[in-house]
Amino acid sequence: MRATLRHVAFTSAPLWLSRGSFGRAHNNRPLCLARHTITLPNLPQALDGLTITHLSDLHIGRLTTAAQLPRILEVVASAKGDMIAVTGDFIDLSLKVLDDVIAAMHKLSAPLGVYMVPGNHDYLVDPHGFVDRFRAAGLRLMLNEAEIVEHAGCRMCIAGVDFVHGKRGLSRVVHDTLRAARPTPSTPRFDLSLLLAHHPDAFDPACRHRVDLTLSGHTHGGQFILGNGVTRKGSLGLASLTSRYPRGLYRRDNSYLYVTTGIGAWFPLRVNCPAEVALLTLRRAPAHPHRHGHVHHSHTQA
Ligand SMILES: [Fe+2]
Repeated sequence: MRATLRHVAFTSAPLWLSRGSFGRAHNNRPLCLARHTITLPNLPQALDGLTITHLSDLHIGRLTTAAQLPRILEVVASAKGDMIAVTGDFIDLSLKVLDDVIAAMHKLSAPLGVYMVPGNHDYLVDPHGFVDRFRAAGLRLMLNEAEIVEHAGCRMCIAGVDFVHGKRGLSRVVHDTLRAARPTPSTPRFDLSLLLAHHPDAFDPACRHRVDLTLSGHTHGGQFILGNGVTRKGSLGLASLTSRYPRGLYRRDNSYLYVTTGIGAWFPLRVNCPAEVALLTLRRAPAHPHRHGHVHHSHTQA
């Protein structure tokens, strides 16, 4: 009920009041391919240069329409990532578009696989229906599970958690999922561990498990960012008020989090916060410790 009211206030009303022009402008905006290099201190030489295409928060529905799916697929295909991670909010309040979304997700392909987790918006109408149809279609929707992928003589752990409300619940599912992936304390450390979680708060328990990289969405980067110089930190966005991890790259010890600004929206406006597909390149840290954690960014538009 709350979600329906929110949808009426922030999606339907602006579309109706603007006679659809907000929606058309929203769908005409460019979708960026945001490239980031993440230097991981423990990455084996064999995985140096591994790329992950990360997309999230498509919110296909009334605002970001199913007609946008081919354009999204084009940007993802142009990234040519070694693996693809989709971190939830595929749909927005209606299952009517699910066949189109599932057909589009089927077209994603990458040499090391396509991994997905659900977001809160996927569960607003019929959570069981959503999960059943994704799984019946053979899509790899990870609900508190992990896969061990062998590549170039390395063992990678790719884990994904279900959407649960509340920090405590999220911590529990992250903890249980990662513990189950390493059944005994003597199991050797993975060469690379990744966690997909819609909510970026998953980073806190992920750090305790020394996950190398957590991928999240949910915040949309705040959608509205006031420019540099507004605060001492540089910029101020809506998500900064509600989330510890509003957008971009975060590091704690040797663990990283990337929070994408996402593709869709809950309101037909983005200010200084473009929709994006992210291409993350993992690099092995050089021998000098002071250079660990170097991050390089660039954007191209599609
Ligand atoms: Fe979202």
